[in-house]
Amino acid sequence: MTTNPNDQVHIRDLSFQLLYSEAMVRERVNALGAALTETHKNLNPLFISILSGAFVFASDLIRAFDGDCEIGFVKLSSYKGTRSSGDVQTVMGLEKDLKGRHIVVVEDIVDTGRTLHFFHNHLQEQGPASITTVAFLRKPSAIEFPVPVEYVGFDIENKFVVGYGLDYDGLGRNIPGVYQLIEE
Ligand code: IMP
Repeated sequence: MTTNPNDQVHIRDLSFQLLYSEAMVRERVNALGAALTETHKNLNPLFISILSGAFVFASDLIRAFDGDCEIGFVKLSSYKGTRSSGDVQTVMGLEKDLKGRHIVVVEDIVDTGRTLHFFHNHLQEQGPASITTVAFLRKPSAIEFPVPVEYVGFDIENKFVVGYGLDYDGLGRNIPGVYQLIEE
């Protein structure tokens, strides 16, 4: 991974242009945390972060939440390269009892919606008091599966992005801002 002064990053064979700076991301995530504080302050919500991509977003989001909360992680994965493919599978599950809990699902990006659609149904079967979904990014024109998302950081074009937890072939998760693929 290399960065240059033209606000581009290069990962393997691809180049990406800056879309949201670290400061823009911080401001937006703080606003999402404040909005969740308004609705969930006294509910001791259980944040569930979908690994791996959402771990960076989740760690900032819970610190922007002012109130008691818990956090758990679930691993669902079906993504290879730059296109969503295959069936979503639960690889690592949650051990907490979700019955009667207020759940806040934390996702990095909603692309086709397959991941969240599956996970939402999975959660609903366990009788939580409520499910609220927060996605850092969403690609509205890529949606194929209906999925309720109450809070969205940014709606973006249907182009591949990296940074702030999102990877290309395993790389780029540690980039503080968000970068969009430059299509040749
Ligand atoms: P979906 O199930 O098609 O909505 O895809 C969701 C998952 O695909 C996300 O949690 C990401 O891990 C991955 N993904 C989708 N779009 C991108 C992208 O532009 N960059 C990196 N990962 C992505």
